[in-house]
Amino acid sequence: METNVLEKEKQLAAYKSITFVENGMVVGLGSGSTASYMVQELGKAVAKGLTIKGIASSEKTAQLARKVGIPLITLDKVEYLDINIDGADEFDNKLQLIKGGGGALLREKIIAHNSKLNIIIADSEKQVNKLGKFKLPVETIPFATQNIINKLSKMGLQPIQRQLEGSPFITDEKNYIVDVDISQCEDLSGLDHTLIKIPGIVETGLFLSMTDIVLMGKGQTTVILKNDDFHKLDVNLID
Ligand code: A5P
Repeated sequence: METNVLEKEKQLAAYKSITFVENGMVVGLGSGSTASYMVQELGKAVAKGLTIKGIASSEKTAQLARKVGIPLITLDKVEYLDINIDGADEFDNKLQLIKGGGGALLREKIIAHNSKLNIIIADSEKQVNKLGKFKLPVETIPFATQNIINKLSKMGLQPIQRQLEGSPFITDEKNYIVDVDISQCEDLSGLDHTLIKIPGIVETGLFLSMTDIVLMGKGQTTVILKNDDFHKLDVNLID
């Protein structure tokens, strides 16, 4: 798809997500290019008088939020977040996700876990029938990373340690990322449990039952996909 069409779809989804944000809310600010459109738009709303507090899922997002004037707080200041808006690398029809393409999966998952309402914003290329075309990011502590790579290799997951400009990619929590191939996996939940039990794996980019709504830009419109048991907020879902 043409880049400008994709960017338009990201913007449509991001702009729609802002309509779910109300005065007084604590808002999880996701990471990635789609989320950055949302953060910029939220900054404009704050400038016009919206009173919210944001919790950023990455240093990059925190930097952008400060630039556009969104007041930030840290996770330890709240028991929960009212709403979390984030992007995804892939989502399926059960609203299961692969996240972590930008390497922020650990903070993103912590924020999602502690949010009353999780909204994913995405362009239409993120929608898949089966997760796994995108490599699954797995966050590992440096001490154990090679040992973990050997184990994942034996499991047939073709692990590759993520690099940035010739050096290991380092996350905001000072860990590494190993990208694995889950395209042959039929039991995502089982795989997730197996991975998370390996000492040194901090978190995986599988977000299996966390998402309430996906707002997907498609052409000139925004499609709303919601989880069957979505009931957490009384919102108008008419586009
Ligand atoms: C960041 O670690 C990711 O989880 C992003 O949410 C994901 O990569 C989507 O990014 P884009 O909006 O840039 O596609």
